Amino acid sequence: MREKIVAGNWKMNTSIREGKQLVLDIIDRIGKLPSGVTLIVAPPFTHLCPVARLIGDRKTPGLAAQNCADKESGAFTGEVSASMLASVPCGYVILGHSERRAYYGETNEILLEKIKLVLASGLRPVFCVGEILEERESNMHFQVVSSQLREVLCQLEPAGFAQVIVAYEPVWAIGTGKTATSEQAQEMHAFIRSFLAETFGEQAESTPILYGGSCKPSNAADIFSQPDVDGGLIGGASLKADDFLAIAGSFA
Ligand code: PGA
Repeated sequence: MREKIVAGNWKMNTSIREGKQLVLDIIDRIGKLPSGVTLIVAPPFTHLCPVARLIGDRKTPGLAAQNCADKESGAFTGEVSASMLASVPCGYVILGHSERRAYYGETNEILLEKIKLVLASGLRPVFCVGEILEERESNMHFQVVSSQLREVLCQLEPAGFAQVIVAYEPVWAIGTGKTATSEQAQEMHAFIRSFLAETFGEQAESTPILYGGSCKPSNAADIFSQPDVDGGLIGGASLKADDFLAIAGSFA
């Protein structure tokens, strides 16, 4: 049985006060979730410590950062290292989100450095892959996703790879209201798993692969019903506790 995970990527939203309230609302209603579902919240850096205090010893929700530095420590003004995140304590770091790739020039090379530091700090990476619309329309989507996987994940040692959570996020579906169909999601998720199996064999069977891109309560059950979809990375809908929990409650 693979882990089922629903992660909320808050992006650059909420004040600390609003963020704390959102987490309190989630904690309040978490008991109603189907067992075996891991919830993760990924607030902005400034919110991590106060949110970690609210979560306390609870196993869920887990806490994720949305990014980290590609260097270990030193004179890198404005950066936050993986080991600093581990000291919060955070459990996860989202890496390679398409917004980071598109607006901040994050390449697969940089992401490989980041993922190694994340793993060395004992954190689990949520590694995002996905194609833009033109790439899908020109039938390049498998090629794009396979190079993202080959140049980053396939470079890891098996022990590091065992910690990885993959998120397939077609860029054309992020924040657009346009979701991939469950068939498109399944097709890509199965492709990702078999591609990873070429390097990691059986291990790829236990890698959680999340879908992201305009996932909401009305479409989550359909997408999550697919055999290779192990949950979701949720943007907009993770900012409302009801919607986020409804999505997390959508596993059959
Ligand atoms: P969305 O974002 O759910 O708002 O489309 C998903 C993401 O960017 O992780």
